[in-house]
Amino acid sequence: MKFFLDSAKMDEIQKAYELFRIDGITTNPRHIELSGKPFYSVIKEIYTWAEKQGFKSWEDFPISVEVNPHFNKAQDMIDMGKSLADMSKLFVIKLPCTYAGIEAAHKLEEMDIRTNLTLVFSVAQSLYAAHAGSLFVSPFVGWKEANGEDTRDYIEGIVETYANSGSQTQVLVAALRSGAQIAHAFRSGADAVTCGLAVYEESMLHPFTDKGLNIFTNAWDGTDTSTK
Ligand code: E4P
Repeated sequence: MKFFLDSAKMDEIQKAYELFRIDGITTNPRHIELSGKPFYSVIKEIYTWAEKQGFKSWEDFPISVEVNPHFNKAQDMIDMGKSLADMSKLFVIKLPCTYAGIEAAHKLEEMDIRTNLTLVFSVAQSLYAAHAGSLFVSPFVGWKEANGEDTRDYIEGIVETYANSGSQTQVLVAALRSGAQIAHAFRSGADAVTCGLAVYEESMLHPFTDKGLNIFTNAWDGTDTSTK
């Protein structure tokens, strides 16, 4: 069960690591833009921070970095993937689930550069990520839910299909918006989830925990707790 943080903001990464000991980071061009920093300086900041925590490779702490979304040729994605992989052993190359992205995934995996197939919205699409031997497949939940689609069958379908076929690709359920969605992903057998810090923070709480703590605090105060 792995919890990744979907962010490129250092303050969120630091907080999520301290609070929840997140297992890795996923970024995308939108998160990079929201960091307010240039692409190469923010990804350097992230891997430098992770290396300071003692992580040495993607096996310890994967950091997914997406290739330039303008690219529509596999070779461009491969070239950028190779140069990112040269920058840090922690990087996993995020590729869109397009013809070019799948072709690039096959070739990068053949070079032992690990990939994450992103923008996946169907069980059928997920099969090509598994066949390419990608490290991760990232099926998006929140975007489909916002489109009025039920996503439970879709996530269960990916997990079941991967299990039936013996795929080694890890199912990284992405764009989660609630604790219920996180719980469903793991209940379905997903390997990992990724979402923003606010979603983790909110899903960690329950009003009965506060109510219970209040009851127990009053009980403590009504008890003689002095030592002999
Ligand atoms: C996944 O890897 C994506 O970065 C991510 O979950 C995108 O969705 P969001 O930014 O809308 O949550």
